[in-house]
Amino acid sequence: VSVQGMPVQVRADSSASAGPKSGSSTFKVAVLGAAGGIGQPLSLLIKMSPFVSELRLYDIANVKGVAADLSHCNTPAQVSAYTGAGELAGALKDVDLVIIPAGVPRKPGMTRDDLFNINAGIVRSLVEAVADHCPNALINIISNPVNSTVPIAAEVLKAKGVYDPKKVFGVTTLDVVRANTFVAQKKNLRLIDVNVPVIGGHAGITILPLLSKTKPTVEFMPEEVEELTVRIQNAGTEVVEAKAGAGSATLSMAYAAARFAESCMRGLDGDSDVYECAYVQSEVTDLPFFATTVKLGKKGVEEIVGEDLSGLTEYEKKAVEALKAELKGSIEKGVQFANKQA
Ligand code: NAI
Repeated sequence: VSVQGMPVQVRADSSASAGPKSGSSTFKVAVLGAAGGIGQPLSLLIKMSPFVSELRLYDIANVKGVAADLSHCNTPAQVSAYTGAGELAGALKDVDLVIIPAGVPRKPGMTRDDLFNINAGIVRSLVEAVADHCPNALINIISNPVNSTVPIAAEVLKAKGVYDPKKVFGVTTLDVVRANTFVAQKKNLRLIDVNVPVIGGHAGITILPLLSKTKPTVEFMPEEVEELTVRIQNAGTEVVEAKAGAGSATLSMAYAAARFAESCMRGLDGDSDVYECAYVQSEVTDLPFFATTVKLGKKGVEEIVGEDLSGLTEYEKKAVEALKAELKGSIEKGVQFANKQA
């Protein structure tokens, strides 16, 4: 992908397209939480996307400067700033894609679920506004705990009568990005060639890389499977500990979220060959939400491709059973929160 002479590679794989079919940028994108650690670099990457005509930046503080700064990049997207709840409607009006990285990140010793009390309410109120002002938009939810915030978003949209399960995504792309990186390093493969599907959810053992489904086909020893799986599951914590109180992954997350957003826009634009793992409403298991590979299209999820769960290794099958109990609890917690408040 190249924007006005500036080489930009948002996608790690080789299926990246040159840009919108019409040749001109078409989509309006809002980033909610745009002044944050993820929000700023993510907004920069979205500003570089040839698909974006308008980039609306919303936060409760400090967003004007971010927008002024980004607006000087000579790429097509027009950037505007919206501060505080009173300006949220303006940020969302007629938007095609809403990306939500608003909320608090982890500190050392915290699980993603420890963020629930603060972030659940933030996601609820932001999604209520999405329902009111851009009910047809795709929603990319980054705010943790994703395993619960996505069910919260679904309940809020249902209560407003505008829920379309094809349009609500928990962003798990960072788990795929990490899995691809670690597997390529371990097996001396070219990074751009590697794709490891990651299923389940986005916290601890609910993150399940399907190493047996790695493309290109690679053989792993059982101890390699164990080591890589645990590293991928704990990679977020690796960053939280290295940052020692200054937050969690922001730059790699921005990269991953920009890749996912770009894929959503390629789907909206009519590209018929866009696949990503994402945490969505799903019938792949008996749980209402589950991350697997989905095909993206003009209306969001075009098809839940799913991984063939009966074709997994014994290790993976056991891991699926183990993760389902935790994921079920996180989903129920989100649903209860949303309905208690309704
Ligand atoms: P941060 O604290 O640097 O930024 C959060 C931003 O959200 C701040 O600018 C803050 O002002 C804003 N904010 C707070 N309440 C808001 C509201 N009601 N409306 C709009 N904006 C609001 O945090 P960071 O590092 O950017 O992380 C954001 C979230 O992303 C956290 O919940 C974190 O756990 C999650 N995350 C998710 C990942 C994933 O793979 N899905 C990976 C890494 C982080």
